[in-house]
Amino acid sequence: MSGAAEARPKVLVARMLLPAGMELLAERCEVVEGGLDVSSERLLELAPGAVAMVADPTVAVGGELLDATGPQLQVVANFAVGHDNVDLDACRRRGIAVTNTPDVLTNATAELALALTVAAARRMSEAEASLRAGRWVGWDPGAGLGLELSGATFGVVGMGRIGRRYAELVTPLAGETLYVSRTPKPEAERDLSAVRVELAELLGRADVVSLHVPANPETTGLIGSAELRAMRTHAVLVNTARGALVDSAALARALQEGEIGAAGLDVYETEPDVPTELLQAPRCVLLPHIGSATTTARDGMARMAAENVLAVLGGSEPPNRVV
Ligand code: 8YV
Repeated sequence: MSGAAEARPKVLVARMLLPAGMELLAERCEVVEGGLDVSSERLLELAPGAVAMVADPTVAVGGELLDATGPQLQVVANFAVGHDNVDLDACRRRGIAVTNTPDVLTNATAELALALTVAAARRMSEAEASLRAGRWVGWDPGAGLGLELSGATFGVVGMGRIGRRYAELVTPLAGETLYVSRTPKPEAERDLSAVRVELAELLGRADVVSLHVPANPETTGLIGSAELRAMRTHAVLVNTARGALVDSAALARALQEGEIGAAGLDVYETEPDVPTELLQAPRCVLLPHIGSATTTARDGMARMAAENVLAVLGGSEPPNRVV
């Protein structure tokens, strides 16, 4: 072993990164990890001097954190496909690249949306809770009746990667697939017989409405009281995208009042706090943001985040640049 070690670039992993990504970074960088419980104050202390930052949807990356990190910061690699936690304009203004992790979590998230669709349609959470609580007293032909999905009309809101994969997965069940998208998706129309409609028409016709659009000012509150009222009274609403898309108070009311049939949610506006009214709402399956939680997806995301950091630090174009 010889001489003083060459200074290694400091990478701040705001919370944590799985070994698949951590090992790649550790080969070339000094990695500082905030940990899962890191506070925003602690992040500001850890940030100075970092040339790269790995964030995730729970970390608000805005002017304060970017300024605390310093002008040497070159890249924010988000450990997620969604990037609504990152102030893109603030990064753009400072010449900081922003990257995300598309594709590797498409299957996992679409599969979870399918699982939530079936679980909500068949009222599985209530059924299991009742069994576990010892309330199951015997087979009852009228108990827990749900919605049969074979032949159903599926409404896919957002036909990006995850929406498209969800549409593929439900095609064997679907009588009809409707979709909403800013631009037509000829491949989905050709391969999946999906029909592009306006949101209002989709809401009025679909038996299942599954949300697959990113959160941004245009999509915030996309599904509120009026939209829920427009849905069929037996319809299932599924959200594996972002909590901000749905007005949770309006959804809880719609479930209480029987305006819609059921809901399956993986995401909430104020994670990890789940609104009490949703916890109390009937016919509602609630999961703790596990859309991408498969080993395959999370390892792929970790690797991708690290590769984006290393590309920028090596002076090349990051493979998954958002900004
Ligand atoms: C979570 C996601 O980010 O990629 C996204 O946008 O919502 C999920 O993959 C991931 O589970 C980390 O919280």
